[in-house]
Amino acid sequence: MRTDNGSFPPDFLWGAATASYQIEGAAHEDGRGESVWDRFAATPGKVRNGDSGEIACDFYHRYRDDVALMRELRLDAFRFSIAWPRILPEGRGRVSQAGLDFYDRLVDELLAHAIEPFATLFHWDTPQALEDAGGWPARATAEAFVEYAEAVASRLGDRVRHWITHNEPWVCAWIGHAWGHHAPGRTSEADAVAAAHHLLLSHGWAAEAIRRAAPGARVGITLNLAHSYPATKSPEDEAAAWRVDGEGNRWFLDPIFRGAYPADLLERNEIVAGFVRDGDLAAIAAPLDFLGVNNYFRFVVSAGADGPQMVRDPEAEQTDMGWEVYPDGLHRLLVRVAEEYAPPVIYVTENGAAFGDVRTHDGRVHDPERTAYLESHIGAVLRAVADGAPIGGYFVWSLLDNFEWAHGYAKRFGIVYVDYPTLERVPKDSFYWYRDFIASRRGAPRPSPIATA
Ligand code: FCB
Repeated sequence: MRTDNGSFPPDFLWGAATASYQIEGAAHEDGRGESVWDRFAATPGKVRNGDSGEIACDFYHRYRDDVALMRELRLDAFRFSIAWPRILPEGRGRVSQAGLDFYDRLVDELLAHAIEPFATLFHWDTPQALEDAGGWPARATAEAFVEYAEAVASRLGDRVRHWITHNEPWVCAWIGHAWGHHAPGRTSEADAVAAAHHLLLSHGWAAEAIRRAAPGARVGITLNLAHSYPATKSPEDEAAAWRVDGEGNRWFLDPIFRGAYPADLLERNEIVAGFVRDGDLAAIAAPLDFLGVNNYFRFVVSAGADGPQMVRDPEAEQTDMGWEVYPDGLHRLLVRVAEEYAPPVIYVTENGAAFGDVRTHDGRVHDPERTAYLESHIGAVLRAVADGAPIGGYFVWSLLDNFEWAHGYAKRFGIVYVDYPTLERVPKDSFYWYRDFIASRRGAPRPSPIATA
């Protein structure tokens, strides 16, 4: 790729990301409890084709082979999530050692291959028992999350340095609680606002619990952020774009970095006032060691009669998700977040694309669109680095094709193709591109820790 106008810092981490429910399978093994995604996927009509994470990529049994693929890529870091119902099958109380053992083995396997584990505590698989007791709209779920964080950090904190409390609280809150397209499938705006508040609150509380259990831990949260462009320069479109930015980006960034919800979203402020207690916003604004940013697309917004409307350019290149390919949106986003919120470090914890990959007669998977997507988006990250954004690493979504939530297995995001009937892994052309790209960044071998000690 063309990187003439600068280069990545030498300690920049090249990684890949995954999530427990999307890859692990083994849904009933070693005492794992039910999660809201098991229940949602078993509900007719919720997930395309009736798919579920019951087997998924069978990562639970095949993680050693998958770590070998990571090693072939020479990844610096692997982002995975921990399945809460494996650790606390009933949501609270009894901690399952068998559940912890799995992540213990995984972490050891990663470290044996010099791959830094980035552990996400919550990537949406809430124990069903907690949902039945009120779920994220209830404050008690935030308390339960702290118990869970403590149990995991006490066991893994001697080896895992990087902790991500939550993945994309906006998606969990709104898609899961207001729109009903994700588990738990609720359709109440008030539930979504309450869920978002308790997710954020539990982030702040858990950050403290993790640091207590694992001194030296570096703790962050991952947000899904997208730059919001007005469709025209009209004041109406500008206002509509600002509103979309407020609902998706600032509603999370402002409390985390400024200890306050954005004042311009009046209706939401009225709803959230019913849930906020003294001290909550201070807890949410606990200092972060890093911010995780997931980004896939941008928004183009115009003012419609009933509020902001997303505008689509029918000519624009799109992925299989119908998401516009627009790398400059990632550059703008990273520079803006760095300038306005000044996180100490930003990791791009997810970025990638789904395309309709097929295995061809030569047994391989040729995915030039994905390679082009990754190349252009990594280029956007590099421009943000050159503009001074403190970016510490980039994680491709995803290592493997996997269970893409309500789309089931129909959307393939992996740089490794998974043949679901046999579970065979087939590295796609983009896998080899990423491997060669990482190797070219390294140039000279990294100094060994012993030599520099
Ligand atoms: C993100 C999710 C991740 C995956 C990608 C495509 O919103 O964090 O699990 O589904 O989108």
